[in-house]
Amino acid sequence: MIYIAPSLLAADFANLESDVKRIASAGANYLHLDVMDGAFVPNISFGAPVIAALRPHSKLIFDVHLMINDPIRYIDDFIKAGADIITIHLESCPDPLKVLKMIRAREVRCALAISPATPVEKIIPFLPEIDMALIMTVVPGFGGQSLILETLEKVRTVKRYAVSQGLKLDIQVDGGLKPENVHLATEAGANIIVAGSAVFGAKRPRAVIAAMRESAAKHPYKG
Ligand code: DX5
Ligand code: ZN
Repeated sequence: MIYIAPSLLAADFANLESDVKRIASAGANYLHLDVMDGAFVPNISFGAPVIAALRPHSKLIFDVHLMINDPIRYIDDFIKAGADIITIHLESCPDPLKVLKMIRAREVRCALAISPATPVEKIIPFLPEIDMALIMTVVPGFGGQSLILETLEKVRTVKRYAVSQGLKLDIQVDGGLKPENVHLATEAGANIIVAGSAVFGAKRPRAVIAAMRESAAKHPYKG
């Protein structure tokens, strides 16, 4: 099953509640929440209070992508705010495993992300410990960038490893994805597709989500 996770970063910040409801009724499965601290990445987005404010208005799976330094400081805040999944960056802290275990111990799905500059070998040892691997398909920090095609080889490597080890692992891709290129990600083994500008920027998000699903279904991972 392919899941579509629109990124709130591309929503209308003056009308978050109605925008979230709009993409939920357009068929989204997850709400991807990009938290940026202006240090791990150059941009600042929003934090736990915004997520907590949206929580009562949506049944979507809240997928919190932390692009912040030393995420361990804020894990409990994001769990209290209503996160269903918390993704930390491998590059953001000295001991990612400690943070991942902390998230899991609180019965929230834990995930690890790697930026385009990080070799895929670095994430492999963590795969048995996580619920989802996030392969960044753009340099984190901004929405609306173009997909970096070379990153999809990492998706394939992670998928192959997961299959060979019998791991139940979701593989998420994030950045530059749209109906025209989503098949490249699903063919490589991704099953959770983040899309910010493609979905929130569309006049008819339902049609965009449906087109992504259709293309993904036609191009499954075949090994
Ligand atoms: C980038 C963020 C992405 C971004 C995706 O740092 O992690 O989630 O919002 O936006 P699009 O789909 O517009 O590339
Ligand atoms: Zn993201």
